[in-house]
Amino acid sequence: MDFSLTDEQLAVQKLARDFATNEVLPKAAEIDREHRHPAELVKRMGDLGFLGIAIPLAHQGAGFDHVSYALAMEEVSRACASTGVIMSVNNSLVCDPIFRFGTDAQKAKWLVPLAQGHLLGCFALSEPEAGSDAAAQRTTATRDGDDWVISGTKNWITNGPVADVCVLFTMNDRAAGHKGITAFILPMTTKGVRCGAPDDKLGIRGSKSSQIFLDDVRLSNDHLLGEVGGGFKVAMSTLDGGRIGIAAQAVGIARAALEDALAYAQQRRTFGKPIAQHQAIQFKLADMATEIDAARLLTLRAAWLKDHKLPYGMEASMAKLYASDIANKAAREAIQIFGGNGYVTEFPVERHFRDAKITEIYEGTSEIQRLVIAGHLAKATR
Ligand code: CAA
Repeated sequence: MDFSLTDEQLAVQKLARDFATNEVLPKAAEIDREHRHPAELVKRMGDLGFLGIAIPLAHQGAGFDHVSYALAMEEVSRACASTGVIMSVNNSLVCDPIFRFGTDAQKAKWLVPLAQGHLLGCFALSEPEAGSDAAAQRTTATRDGDDWVISGTKNWITNGPVADVCVLFTMNDRAAGHKGITAFILPMTTKGVRCGAPDDKLGIRGSKSSQIFLDDVRLSNDHLLGEVGGGFKVAMSTLDGGRIGIAAQAVGIARAALEDALAYAQQRRTFGKPIAQHQAIQFKLADMATEIDAARLLTLRAAWLKDHKLPYGMEASMAKLYASDIANKAAREAIQIFGGNGYVTEFPVERHFRDAKITEIYEGTSEIQRLVIAGHLAKATR
């Protein structure tokens, strides 16, 4: 077993670390405070190839692998979790399904500009009454001649208010259950599409999300993504990959908590010495470092399996489940190490604490990850 990264993976990691440290980190507190979409960082990520990292060069992506994607996600999220999720949604939830299910014409029209960062994407599956129970779609798609007419409401759509393109899920045959779900590529400027006010969130405040209202939206057949009735598989298989991105985001947030806490503990003194020399603090730091390493290994294993075209759905869920848990724990412990300074916005760890929470919720709650893992276990023993 070889745990070493390739020269190419190391180069992507270094590029992402330099970008994150020099360009993202100095703005992270302001992005959070102002609830600001970091348009200039999104543009830079496009220039660096970070918005279509694992999309092949033939489609003008960066042509790297999913291990590189996870490494870059960790670095960007270590600096700013909001910027991380913007990157993750475009890569995992938009470029990836268009690459896997799109026609050649759709790839030329949508994937190329999305992977280059000329367009930004969002993924609209969740609805007011369909979050964890993703098959309970109420947004309807009805055939009208050669067109489809779509109406409904989507909820908490990350990138929604700033997206150009949406991978949209609809119900075209309610009686068929999940086999009646159909995916579309929706240009956000289509008549009848309207975003609600941006959600006012606990964390990742620089990531804009909102409802999307669809009112008799008319799309031609060439906007279908995959087959009529094949949308649930598009969604589920896309989320398998998305969970690697969110696991990497969680590892990045956890690392931010550890690195900030370590630096603070080395300079903050109590009882005549730096608190990093008290065993109570040393044990916290040691546990954080160990758990972050374990979460990263789970994440990179899932990415490696995807790269090697091996089944990876269970491993992606395990990575997201564990990494999101330890991100929350690391952020909580970082606040404890900072003491009173951890509770005020002058220091970054309260932001990590607020940012960490969403990783246990979006792209499948921790409870859903356990269902997915248990489902795989049951299949393996059948
Ligand atoms: N890949 C391909 N197909 C899959 C699949 C996968 N990973 N998982 C399930 N399927 C298929 C099954 O094989 C089955 O197909 P057949 O009928 O042909 O056998 C079909 O889908 C139905 O499977 P289930 O019976 O397991 O489906 P279910 O209705 O019980 O739901 C679930 C399963 C795992 C709970 C699913 O609903 C789920 O993942 N829920 C969470 C949704 C989620 O993650 N939402 C996140 C929204 S996006 C987001 O958060 C983005 C953001 O903001 C950043």
